[in-house]
Amino acid sequence: RPLWAMYVVLAVSLSEEQALKQVCPSCDATQSCNCSSMGLDFIPSGLTDKITLLDLARNRIKHIRAHDLQQAVNLRTLLLQSNKISSIDEDSFVSLGKLELLDLSNNRLAHLSPRWFEHLVSLQHLHIHGNCYSDLGESSPFSSLRNLSSLHLGNPRFSTIRQGNFEGITLLDQLWIEGSNLSVYEPGSLKSIKKINHMIISIRRVDLFSAIVRDLLHSAIWLEIREIAFNIAEEMQLLSVLSLSFAKKISFKQVLLTDATVPGIVTILEKVPRLVEVEMKDCRLLGTGRWDLEIQANQSQSLRVLTIEKLSIEEFYLFTDLQAVLDLVSLFTKITVENTKVFLVPCRLSKQLLSLEYLDLSANLLGDQSLEHSACPGGWPLLKTLNLSQNSLSDFKMTAKSLSHLRNLILLDISQNNFGEIPDVCEWPANLKYLNLSRTQIPKLTACIPSTLEVLDISANNLKEFNLHLPFLKELYLAKNQLKALPDAASIPNLVALSIRGNKLNSFSKEELESFKKMELLDASANNFICSLCSKYLLDSFPLPLCPSSTRVCITKV
Ligand SMILES: *[C@@H]1O[C@H](CO)[C@@H](O)[C@H](O)[C@H]1NC(C)=O
Ligand SMILES: *[C@@H]1O[C@H](CO)[C@@H](O)[C@H](O)[C@H]1NC(C)=O
Ligand SMILES: *[C@@H]1O[C@H](CO)[C@@H](O)[C@H](O)[C@H]1NC(C)=O
Ligand SMILES: *[C@@H]1O[C@H](CO)[C@@H](O)[C@H](O)[C@H]1NC(C)=O
Ligand SMILES: *[C@@H]1O[C@H](CO)[C@@H](O)[C@H](O)[C@H]1NC(C)=O
Ligand SMILES: *[C@@H]1O[C@H](CO)[C@@H](O)[C@H](O)[C@H]1NC(C)=O
Repeated sequence: RPLWAMYVVLAVSLSEEQALKQVCPSCDATQSCNCSSMGLDFIPSGLTDKITLLDLARNRIKHIRAHDLQQAVNLRTLLLQSNKISSIDEDSFVSLGKLELLDLSNNRLAHLSPRWFEHLVSLQHLHIHGNCYSDLGESSPFSSLRNLSSLHLGNPRFSTIRQGNFEGITLLDQLWIEGSNLSVYEPGSLKSIKKINHMIISIRRVDLFSAIVRDLLHSAIWLEIREIAFNIAEEMQLLSVLSLSFAKKISFKQVLLTDATVPGIVTILEKVPRLVEVEMKDCRLLGTGRWDLEIQANQSQSLRVLTIEKLSIEEFYLFTDLQAVLDLVSLFTKITVENTKVFLVPCRLSKQLLSLEYLDLSANLLGDQSLEHSACPGGWPLLKTLNLSQNSLSDFKMTAKSLSHLRNLILLDISQNNFGEIPDVCEWPANLKYLNLSRTQIPKLTACIPSTLEVLDISANNLKEFNLHLPFLKELYLAKNQLKALPDAASIPNLVALSIRGNKLNSFSKEELESFKKMELLDASANNFICSLCSKYLLDSFPLPLCPSSTRVCITKV
């Protein structure tokens, strides 16, 4: 067995550090050691005080032994997520006094021991979600973590939160509890935490949620609720405690609402005394906006921002005119209703949005006629920013006309609609400065484009030329068209930034380039340059850091 013998001799003579490099080639001279997804069954030996980052995620490690990490005294980041860890020796982390981030998520820990975390005095981020513990033990596993800033825990089997479980933590930036199967919450358990900037909780039971909210009334600044179903009107009584909260922002994600429960929730939210912002993402509404009860609320004096993204309303085409909320909206300054199949904003509602400055209705179903109705005279009187990207607009002239009375409108995004040819003359809002027409199938520009613009994005159309006179224009985005020449500098004398990447330019002269007197940024990459010339011009004309990508692409495209 000479071969085998030689192997043993070799293995012994290798220093442990070299052995580590063999298992994990990235652990060479650098301080970070990335051994993720290497099929490891154990934490490799040979870790030293040189290492500050150790990534062992997505291996098959089952057990962490007391000596595994003993020498790694300078570790700041230890990533052990997505292994099969079911046991950790009590003393495993004793040497890790400098550790700032510990990720043990998605393993198989059936219980947590306070002893593990006892010496982690610098720990700021602890991720222990996605294991199989059903509770946090009898006391607090976190009481030594004086510097903890974010904590993410819970899993589908997590059932119980006890008093004392969070003892020792007073201030958190983020606390995220995955408690969809929580069945016991001992009142007071979360009360010891004095301030939580962002509290995220997934939970199914409204009664438990209510008990938790009671303990967070004065501590949670941003409260985010996930996965709960509000479908029983009677349960909304339990939720009324929320109206005593000092939260400034409340978010709902993957939450279910019905016509029976919306009035109750709106009533409660209107009462939350410091609430500025309400957000709903990926929620479902069963109903058509014909609320079963009246909303019994006075308008909130603090609420300003409403964000709804991807709300699914199965019978959206039956949705009502939202009469019931007309009295509640006049102070809103910022509304986003994105990807929600909005096909109309009732004129009466638009007229009530007296303070609105920002409206994002992108990715909806607004057409030319419904926009005309939605933006009726007197609607959105203070609007500055309007996003209608990705709707069903097709009449360019009518779109401009419908909005032309919005005297405060500065920014209009109507990208990703399907306009095709545009007319020669149009009416626009008088003060429009930013217009986004990217991906709108426009083959040729005309004097319809308003001359007040400072920023124009007309990328990804079918333009063969650009010869508009836009005296105030500072930024021009022409990427992904068919242009063969640079625009004429004399008609856009104030241009500071131009993107003309992905067109059909063959070359341009140094004089042409220099005729843009104020130009600071040019991206002319991905064209058909004859490159040796062009790169020299660019280098001569601009300080290098200003146009590195265009010069680089120029050279590589030879
Ligand atoms: C380690 O490498 C993997 C795969 O290349 C990568 O996804 C991961 O982000 C790296 N880890 C760190 C901490 O950079
Ligand atoms: C606690 O964290 C802060 C940064 O959040 C850091 O400046 C401080 O040094 C840390 N304290 C300890 C004991 O690690
Ligand atoms: C959730 O809890 C119930 C009993 O409270 C249990 O039957 C069910 O298996 C749990 N679900 C999971 C994913 O553990
Ligand atoms: C609304 O405000 C009025 C006057 O301040 C008050 O009398 C009334 O009770 C309030 N209604 C609700 C539902 O809070
Ligand atoms: C408008 O909405 C689209 C899609 O949601 C987004 O990509 C774009 O950045 C928004 N435009 C502005 C000016 O915010
Ligand atoms: C114009 O809209 C598109 C999306 O439709 C976006 O990717 C692009 O960044 C916008 N342009 C500017 C200048 O903001």
